[in-house]
Amino acid sequence: MNFFEVLFDETSGAPVAEYGGDPRWSGVAVNFVESVDGVVALATEGESGAVVSGGSRADHFLMGLLRSCADAVLIGAGTLRAAQRDLWFADSIFPEARDLYARVGRLRPRLYVVSGSGQVDPAHPALRDGVLLTGKLSPREILERIGADGHQRILCEGGPRLFTELAAAGLVDEIFLTLSPHLFGRFAGDGRKALTDGRDLGGQPLRLRSLRRSGSHLFLRYAVGSAS
Ligand SMILES: NC(=O)c1ccc[n+]([C@@H]2O[C@H](COP(=O)([O-])OP(=O)(O)OC[C@H]3O[C@@H](n4cnc5c(N)ncnc54)[C@H](OP(=O)(O)O)[C@@H]3O)[C@@H](O)[C@H]2O)c1
Repeated sequence: MNFFEVLFDETSGAPVAEYGGDPRWSGVAVNFVESVDGVVALATEGESGAVVSGGSRADHFLMGLLRSCADAVLIGAGTLRAAQRDLWFADSIFPEARDLYARVGRLRPRLYVVSGSGQVDPAHPALRDGVLLTGKLSPREILERIGADGHQRILCEGGPRLFTELAAAGLVDEIFLTLSPHLFGRFAGDGRKALTDGRDLGGQPLRLRSLRRSGSHLFLRYAVGSAS
């Protein structure tokens, strides 16, 4: 199973052969899929990622791989509400690679969901084992709560609003971004979202760490906060 043509990769840690490099990170990484015209979230019912990626198997494989590398996965309540049945396990997004994920790390990193309002469905299947953090927390407090449970390598899977808060606080170390070969378009009041939402991030610099290709999908990995 190897989806990727590796065009560039500066990582030097223990490689995962099926990825062609070391997918692990230190601290907080985020993972998103975005269309070529910058759309990450659609306003339609249901989870946007699979639509934006065009159902890319390579993207799903990578999502599972990054989950398996993580101690904990963090999402915002908006992302939970949009995906009524998702579990955020490594093997739930790409079951075929279960054995590989188990070799690399955890099949079921602990899920944390943040909700200022507390208005989430307590019967959501992801909350059977997942942890719901309610009340308005600063981005630092969110990470401290997760760190207090002993988790160090954190994967944030969005959405745009939560990611933007973390980025504005300078708390994101790396960005895994799948560029999906689709155009969705945007218009005033459409409810669609770009990768970041609601904050001025002031032109934060990013540095490319790796670039992969699978067909017309590109898989970019950036370090945050260091110029090119
Ligand atoms: N393309 C992709 O890769 C991708 C990835 C993830 C999500 N998505 C899509 O993105 C959309 C959801 O994104 P979104 O930006 O609307 O929502 P979001 O970031 O997932 O969630 C926002 C919510 O999280 C809670 N929250 C955020 N910061 C908080 C803080 N500091 N303290 C406490 N709670 C906090 C709040 O919950 P309350 O509202 O409960 O107060 C807030 O309204 C969905 O359509 C989803 O499918 C796409």
